[in-house]
Amino acid sequence: MSRYLEIRELAVTYAGADGSTTAAVRDVDLDVDEGEFVSIIGVSGCGKSTLLKVVGDILTPSRGQIRVRGRSPGEVRRQGRIGVVFQDATLLPWLTVERNVGFLAGLAGRPVSRDRVRELLALVGLEGCQTRRPHELSGGMRQRAAIARALALDPYLLLMDEPFGALDEITRDRMSEELLKIWAASRVTVLFVTHSIPEAAFLSDRVVVMTPRPGTIQRVVDVKLPRPRERALKLADEFMDHVRILHTELYTSMQA
Ligand SMILES: Nc1ncnc2c1ncn2[C@@H]1O[C@H](COP(=O)(O)OP(=O)(O)O)[C@@H](O)[C@H]1O
Ligand SMILES: [Mg+2]
Repeated sequence: MSRYLEIRELAVTYAGADGSTTAAVRDVDLDVDEGEFVSIIGVSGCGKSTLLKVVGDILTPSRGQIRVRGRSPGEVRRQGRIGVVFQDATLLPWLTVERNVGFLAGLAGRPVSRDRVRELLALVGLEGCQTRRPHELSGGMRQRAAIARALALDPYLLLMDEPFGALDEITRDRMSEELLKIWAASRVTVLFVTHSIPEAAFLSDRVVVMTPRPGTIQRVVDVKLPRPRERALKLADEFMDHVRILHTELYTSMQA
């Protein structure tokens, strides 16, 4: 029985123009179940983005194998079933919010109806914004639109690389609370990169702690906090326990 997402003996080495090489990621083995929310944390430069890029077929690994529902990332991407949300929303400035949200699904050959777009905009809290253009939105609203655009693909995987990294802390906290509601409603499988321990603990079913470069998996921590999770949880002892465990793992990995 194959798992929903399987990563086996993965390694990525970058080749520099001068003949030098950088081993960014090595020996990564990870299984993710359908509907799981898995975060990846680690210090800057440990290969988090690299890992996400090979899963999303933006990069080809140097070694190892990835399977998404039994298929290669290339096949899944060509089917338009990989949603990505990065730090920059990369909306098309000349299109309305509504057309931005439907844009990638249209490119993938699975156009979404106007009703579906409205439904997605409501889900991400952008109801009434359909005819606005990206420059008329705040940073947080642009990220919401990017999430809606990714969900319009009905993705097998939603890859998020520090999606709230450019937002102020209060907006960022609010966005993570809302992301959980969106995730609960869509049941999408999420791989989420962050360097924030509390963000990872709050959102995830499991947190993958990576070592510094070359990034390997230090430990995978189960987050046994009940769901649905709300803001008050961040003040609870059981939440702080998880933060402590993740903190210890992260700093242990840095001494190795
Ligand atoms: N295109 C590239 N060419 C060469 N080295 C790269 C490239 N992209 C990333 N790296 C290096 O690979 C390592 C991992 O990078 P990255 O995956 O971006 O880390 P993170 O997202 O955890 O900060 C870093 O040392 C980075 O400098
Ligand atoms: Mg990165």
